[in-house]
Order: sequence, then C-alpha cells, then structure tokens
Amino acid sequence: LNKGASLVSATLIPSSPKGNFLLGHLTEYRKNPLGFLTACARDYGDIVALRLLGSRVYLLNHPRYIEAVLSDDTNFISHKGMRLRPTQCLLGNGLLTSDGNFWRGQRRIAQPAFHHARIVAYGAVMVEYAERMLASWQDGETRDVFRDMLRLTQEIVAKTLFDADVTDDSEDIAAAFDTLQEEFNAERSLFQSLRLASPLPVNRRTREAVKQLDETIYRIIQRRRTDGCDAGDLLSMLLAARREDGSQLTERQLRDEVMTIFFAGHEATGATLAWALYLLARHPEAQSNLCAEIQEVLNGRAPRATDVPRLRYTARVVKETLRLYPPAWALGREAVRDCTIGGYRVPARTQLMMSQWVMHRDARYFDSPDEFRPERWTDQMSAQLPKYAYFPYGGRARGCIGRAFAEMEMVLILAIIAREYEFNLAPDFEPAILPSFALIPKNKIKLTLMKTGNRLVPDNDLQFQIAI
Ligand code: HEM
Repeated sequence: LNKGASLVSATLIPSSPKGNFLLGHLTEYRKNPLGFLTACARDYGDIVALRLLGSRVYLLNHPRYIEAVLSDDTNFISHKGMRLRPTQCLLGNGLLTSDGNFWRGQRRIAQPAFHHARIVAYGAVMVEYAERMLASWQDGETRDVFRDMLRLTQEIVAKTLFDADVTDDSEDIAAAFDTLQEEFNAERSLFQSLRLASPLPVNRRTREAVKQLDETIYRIIQRRRTDGCDAGDLLSMLLAARREDGSQLTERQLRDEVMTIFFAGHEATGATLAWALYLLARHPEAQSNLCAEIQEVLNGRAPRATDVPRLRYTARVVKETLRLYPPAWALGREAVRDCTIGGYRVPARTQLMMSQWVMHRDARYFDSPDEFRPERWTDQMSAQLPKYAYFPYGGRARGCIGRAFAEMEMVLILAIIAREYEFNLAPDFEPAILPSFALIPKNKIKLTLMKTGNRLVPDNDLQFQIAI
C-alpha cells in the first residue's frame, strides 16, 4: 500500500460493481445504503468505484486510505463533497459545511469554547439537566428514549454554549427536526435525491421547518444582544469575534454558526445515547457491569465531571456503541486535483466516501464485529487498532470540535440514568436503523424503565432482528 495520497501518476483503477447505464449505483445505494456499502467493501475490496448522481465516487475501505484523505488538506480536506450539500439549507455556511480559509477562521473563533477547562465546567449543567429529566420519569413506564435523549442533548447544548433554556420550545424544535429528517431521509425517491443534491430551491415543508428553527436561533441571538452581557460562552465569542480583515460576523453568519452547533451538538449525542440504552437493554450482563461500576465509583451520589476518568466501563459502553451505531456513518471529501491513493489514480472532482459503518464492522479489525462487547476496549486493543479502523469523530483538521464535550456528556448521562433505573426493551418493540443525516432509530427506542431494585426478568428467548 502507498502510505498517503500523492501526485505521482499511477495506473491502478479501482474495481466497480455493475451499475445501471443511466443511474449508476444510485438505486441500490438509496434502497439500502448501509447494506450496499458493506457488500461493496466485501466484494470489491479496499477501494471501490461507484457512480452516484452523476458523480464518480470512490468508497475507501482501508484505514490507511482513510488517513491519507483526512490528513491531506492540499488534495482533499477543504472540500466536504456532495453528502453534506443537502444539509446546507439548514446549516448555511457554518463550521460543518464551510470550506477553506473561511472555515479556518470560524474554527479559530469557536475553538476556545471547547477547551478542556470549559468542558469540565459544562459537566454541572449536563448533570443538572439529566437529573431534571429523570425527575419526570415514572417507575415502570415505557418511554421512547430516543425522543428523551434528543430533547435532553438539545437543552444541554443550548444552555452550555449559548446560555439559553430551550425547554419550552422543545416540542416545536423536535417537530421541525422531524420534518427535516423526513425530507432528507434515505428512503426518498430518485427525484427527491436529485432535487436535494442540486442547488434548486427547497420545498415548502423544508422551508417552514427551517423557518421554525430560525425563530429559536434568532431569538437566542437577539436576547443576548439585548442583555449585552458577556456570558463567556460560545455565543459571546461569536458576537465579539473579528475576522482577519477586522469585520464582525454578519447576522447570517452568526445564525449559521449557532444553528450548526445546535444541530451537530445534539443529534449525534442523542442518537448514541439512545442506541447505548438499547444495547444495554439487550445485554443485561453489560447493564449489570455498568451498574456495578456506577455503584462503586459514585456510591449513590450524582456524578461530577471529575468522576468521568474513573467511569471506565461506562466510557467503554459509549465507545462500543459508537462502533456499532456510529451517528456519522459516512464522511465525504472531494479531490480538488488529480492525485493518487495507495497507487490508485484519483481524478479531480472524485468524491471520496469513508464509511464508519463499514469500517467499524470489519472483521479484519474487530473480533465478532457484530457483537456488543464493551470489554473489548482494553488499552492494549486500542493501542493495537490501526488508526482510522475506528473513527466515529472523523479526524485531523476537520475532526469533531465537540468530541470531548460529547464524551463527557454521554458518560455522565448514562451514569445518571443507570444509577436510578434499569431498563428493558418494550415487548412489542422492533427497532430499525435509519441512515439519515445521522444514524438514527427509525421507529423510536421503546424501553420499560424500572427504578433500581424492581427489575423485570429479561426474556432471553426473544430474538431481535435489526432491519437495515
Ligand atoms: C456522539 C457525538 C458526536 C459524534 C459521533 C460526532 C461526529 C462528528 C464527525 C465525524 C465530524 C467530522 C465530519 C467530517 O469530517 O466531515 C464532526 C464534526 C463536527 N462536530 Fe461532531 N460529533 C459528535 C458530537 C458533537 C458535539 C457535542 C458538537 C458540539 C457541541 C459537535 C460539533 C461538531 C462540529 C461543529 C463539527 C464540524 C467541525 C469542523 O468541520 O470544523 N459534534 N462531528
């Protein structure tokens, strides 16, 4: 293998599954993206050529190829590729979707809000909001914990980074995000995907949902302007920021950044927490291990940010959940010029696709890859794992700015829930995966919650089949 991408001419050409003359591989991809990408990797190897929406797409299935792309800002990094294009009507030109020098400037402005000391300070808010959520739960009830986790992570991101309480708006926010999910989701028709990938105006439902979310975001910004106070949070940093030419962010830029952080800062964590609760419900022995650790470390009290390093099994549960259900299930980049990866020729404008879903379930890197085994994450295993065989947060310059935030938040919330409740899958519940913006549960995660000590006996005969 060539270690990285280079400009040296190369002759290798990736193999490709047979595609439709006109549509390429779009039909199979739209029908079942996760299954299709997995089959491509299995049948065609470490680099696979596809044609989607008229674009040449190379699917990269080797950690070194992925590293080559994510670490190379000359040939690839500042072009996010077509996968994110549809989200631009919601996120505008914020941190996630912007490119080049503009992105670099925005990242510099936002970075201080994610420094270690700040993240530790956010811990208290995370705990307070999680405890408040738990106070509204009843012993023995069945809940959709995906909805609960999304609401909680929304409230936390708004409070920690914008000092805003969005509790009263949470139903409207959830409805607007639901509409956007429906509009963007992977089961849309061919016409819909062409429209979403094009710069044509978006439809009325999407516009209205974005308008609804805009109202919340502009209200948060306006309130801060009126208060005039410097809360020292991300919003204050954005309001005070000067770009290199001395200009302030425009109202639209502010909106795009706040919307991006609000969106990126709750959806992935909410989905991961819901998947973690689901996996724990399916694996009572892992749930018992988790409870034992929480009892030992916390001894009945609420967790604090400083407990997180000792909640090692809890962190492994999160890590293993991110392996099996990575919210960012594929990343995209675009080659800006002709180059090579591992000896393969990559013409300019090729879309590079790297799928966490595919890599995280690759038996070359993970024993029994489809099994949930938090204990696999020993220090030794982590040290031996090739970099980018596991990359839930992406990597290098465009890696997730909220990683430390998310890691602390997910450990604290899991610890708080598992300290008070044991949970089982609701008997009539059949989960399914929806690879949308993020990898989310399609039809809720319905769990029955029992206050610790009132545990239901798990039904080991039930076979749960995840449909993808
Ligand atoms: C389970 C939790 C999370 C996961 C798995 C996750 C995953 C990712 C990934 C894979 C990327 C890179 C995308 C790419 O390379 O194209 C990313 C970027 C980003 N994430 Fe996260 N994320 C999580 C939580 C968060 C949180 C809590 C925040 C904010 C509070 C956040 C804010 C962002 C932003 C702003 C970017 C764009 C960074 C840039 O391009 O400079 N994320 N995230």
